[in-house]
Amino acid sequence: MEKTIILNGSPRAPKSNSKRYAEIFSACHGADVEYYNITRTNHDELRRKIGTCSDVVLVFPLYADALPVGLLNFLKALELEPPAGKPVVSVMINCGFLEYRQNDLAVRMMKFFCKRNGYAFGSVVEIGSGEAILDTPFRFLAKRAIRDFSRSIRNRKYAAFHTTMPLTKRLFILASTLYWSSYGKKYGVTREEMRTMRIEGEKTV
Ligand SMILES: Cc1cc2nc3c(=O)[nH]c(=O)nc-3n(C[C@H](O)[C@H](O)[C@H](O)COP(=O)(O)O)c2cc1C
Repeated sequence: MEKTIILNGSPRAPKSNSKRYAEIFSACHGADVEYYNITRTNHDELRRKIGTCSDVVLVFPLYADALPVGLLNFLKALELEPPAGKPVVSVMINCGFLEYRQNDLAVRMMKFFCKRNGYAFGSVVEIGSGEAILDTPFRFLAKRAIRDFSRSIRNRKYAAFHTTMPLTKRLFILASTLYWSSYGKKYGVTREEMRTMRIEGEKTV
């Protein structure tokens, strides 16, 4: 059965950039798309769902050059207990930094998972400046890359796509520093506080 399921692996799935990317994908892809967030408690339900579809699209952010832990736990659950049928796995990944290639390692991890567990790997779209691009005039670049990604899955001509904002690193750092400083200010957090390893008063390392 030709059916695509999108699974959001962002830890902040309901409010995530990944959700926004998934919405763009759904709008391009047409009717037969179902969307679910990956949570701690729905692994069995998602296993049943992906066992009946032709394609699964994993949409998630880059975390510490790798996969978010919630997604890793879901993949571990699939490894222990595989679904009834194995769909083609495609990946839509976004990262905060400007360079889309920051995502390469995480994509390799997904390819390794697929190879080891008998899933065909489909298409991939790597998005750089993923926290920002949709709220800038460059959002059309992200939409275009996702449209091409969706088309490749529909036509079963799996391929790799990428995009980012066409800015110099210097300009990107300047713009993002201004953005995060004023964001911190809104919540009473100074630039100095943002530079520490403390989260809400607790030291993290
Ligand atoms: C804990 C954490 C780790 C992150 N690690 C990276 C990283 O290694 N490289 C990068 O470019 N962005 C990194 N980011 C930025 C996210 O990938 C980026 O903000 C993304 O848009 C979040 O997507 P989401 O809203 O779908 O979760 C990190 C963000 C967080 C919160």
